[in-house]
Amino acid sequence: MKKLRFGIFGLGRGSSFISILQDFEEAEITALCEKEEGKLKSAGERCPGAKLFRDYEEMLDSGLDAVILCNYFHEHDVCACQAMERGIAVFSECTSSPTLAGCVRLVETAESTGVKYMLAENYPFSAALLEMKRIVSEGKLGRILYAEGEYNHALPREGLAGLTPGKYHWRAWMPRTYYVTHALGPLMHVTGEMPVKVNAFAVHSDVLEQYDDFRHNYDALAMMNVITDDGALFRATGCTAMGSASGYRFAGENGCVETGRTLGSMVNLSYQSWLVPEGEERNRTYDPQWPANAELAEKAGHGGGDFWTVWNFIQYLTKGTEPFFNVYRGVAMSAVAILGWRSCMEDGKTFYIPDFTKKEARDAVRDDDLTPFPDENGRVTLPCAIGKKMNGH
Ligand SMILES: NC(=O)c1ccc[n+]([C@@H]2O[C@H](COP(=O)([O-])OP(=O)(O)OC[C@H]3O[C@@H](n4cnc5c(N)ncnc54)[C@H](O)[C@@H]3O)[C@@H](O)[C@H]2O)c1
Repeated sequence: MKKLRFGIFGLGRGSSFISILQDFEEAEITALCEKEEGKLKSAGERCPGAKLFRDYEEMLDSGLDAVILCNYFHEHDVCACQAMERGIAVFSECTSSPTLAGCVRLVETAESTGVKYMLAENYPFSAALLEMKRIVSEGKLGRILYAEGEYNHALPREGLAGLTPGKYHWRAWMPRTYYVTHALGPLMHVTGEMPVKVNAFAVHSDVLEQYDDFRHNYDALAMMNVITDDGALFRATGCTAMGSASGYRFAGENGCVETGRTLGSMVNLSYQSWLVPEGEERNRTYDPQWPANAELAEKAGHGGGDFWTVWNFIQYLTKGTEPFFNVYRGVAMSAVAILGWRSCMEDGKTFYIPDFTKKEARDAVRDDDLTPFPDENGRVTLPCAIGKKMNGH
């Protein structure tokens, strides 16, 4: 069997895919790209035979079947297009694109080249969220009316500083709505629903403003209300600095299922007292089991999600099985983040999410390249925090 030749771009997060890929006999890592010498050298030692690159396009031209994009958060779309234009399949870390214009370019490049693209969103693939998908898909809860996704990743000053090298690093400028995929992705995956419109508010933090010497995103959180194509209400954060664990909840007409927060990796399933299905308990908390591949998932990061995203991508490349997080769902989540942020700046105004499958919807945002992320001269076209006075206090 001819192995799929993989390149990994960006060896911070990217290095966590090395051992996962090495467990797949269908794949081999033939190239690594990173501009920081220390990261390149230590990843190179783990991948005997891989060629080492400091330049991304040189790596693309080294003969690859697929590339894993773990470079800067706001530069995935351009790099994905460069790969697809060369016929190289893309496995992209979040986010798909930081601008609406970039979302259009990404979709149109995927369509015109016919090359495979998958967003590497991993949070929906923990044992608990896969179990919740099973419950919701079986219709036990009835129609889903409401779902919550809360992604919390608070760190002390030194932790934030360590993740934010350089004054123009993306983490120093990212508005609170932008890291949306870990909160919204699980809600979309469990229900199969697409976002249609969004409004949002952000909350300023005086504590974060004290870190002004290296970060400029002073909000602690943003909360987005998303109406879906099935008429449900999703409430999703981006990444927040709240002091609790992440959590997810699905409320249907018959009952509720949730995980995270105080439940850890357990699942709590409850029904309305008059709607308990035969053979079920009114309320129970339990440890969910993996549907398959338990051993490999168990040893991978992010609750097993890192294994499942790679597994899904390899199924896509070898068997053509379309992954859930295709380019349309990827850009839909980016658009929620982008327009959710505009809503924060416009006092909670509602914005409609473009349907990127339609040309007229693309044309309406084709030139919309506003961004809170600085270019190499520090120029931005959007603020990255709402400011103290915004929410009327
Ligand atoms: N899904 C998850 O659970 C998860 C976890 C961590 C990070 N991520 C995502 O992965 C991506 C990377 O995260 P990170 O924490 O490693 O970010 P980072 O900014 O710390 O690291 C990016 C790396 O890419 C390298 N790089 C960027 N541009 C380059 C270029 N032109 N040439 C050579 N090297 C270049 C940098 O030197 C750096 O080492 C982000 O999009 C982040 O959102 C996802």
